Amino acid sequence: MDNNKRKELIVSAIRNGTVIDHIPSEKSFQVIKILNLETSTNKIYFGTGLESKKFGKKGIIKISGKYFKDEEISKIALVAPSATLIEISDYEVTKKGKVNLPESVERIVKCFNPKCVTNIQDITTKFKVIEDHNGEMKLACHYCEKTMKKENIEFL
Ligand code: CTP
Ligand code: ZN
Repeated sequence: MDNNKRKELIVSAIRNGTVIDHIPSEKSFQVIKILNLETSTNKIYFGTGLESKKFGKKGIIKISGKYFKDEEISKIALVAPSATLIEISDYEVTKKGKVNLPESVERIVKCFNPKCVTNIQDITTKFKVIEDHNGEMKLACHYCEKTMKKENIEFL
């Protein structure tokens, strides 16, 4: 068996479900958390610290019998914008693409400003996804207009 073959077999193939590939290694556990996979009863394969040509080290998560909704895919994009989402049906890849950052984010993120009305009243949060001058992704709150850096993002 050559070396390449051996690497491919680190995490087993799945019959039906979703593969989240090319997760930056240090984000792997956070992706598991935001998708609430700890409480899932599905068959899940997980690898982190795996060699990747593009990323140095990457994480991969394979979830049997599950296809993610747009809202969940947005969460993945916020945490791991480099991730590839692959849908598998009867062992075949049926869909494959980069996760897309949405233009706006509703409900899934908490505003980091304690004085924001969304933290005081029962109001659904809403943010615009923007890029600062360094090309860093930020979230601008629709209500208090404060902008939040990636590291301050807290999921609801
Ligand atoms: N995969 C899987 N189960 C399958 C088919 C594919 O878990 N039944 C996984 C593969 O392990 C791989 C990903 O889905 O991580 C993408 O599959 P494929 O496009 O066939 O692999 P590659 O061509 O190697 O893709 P890439 O070079 O983008 O990693
Ligand atoms: Zn706010």
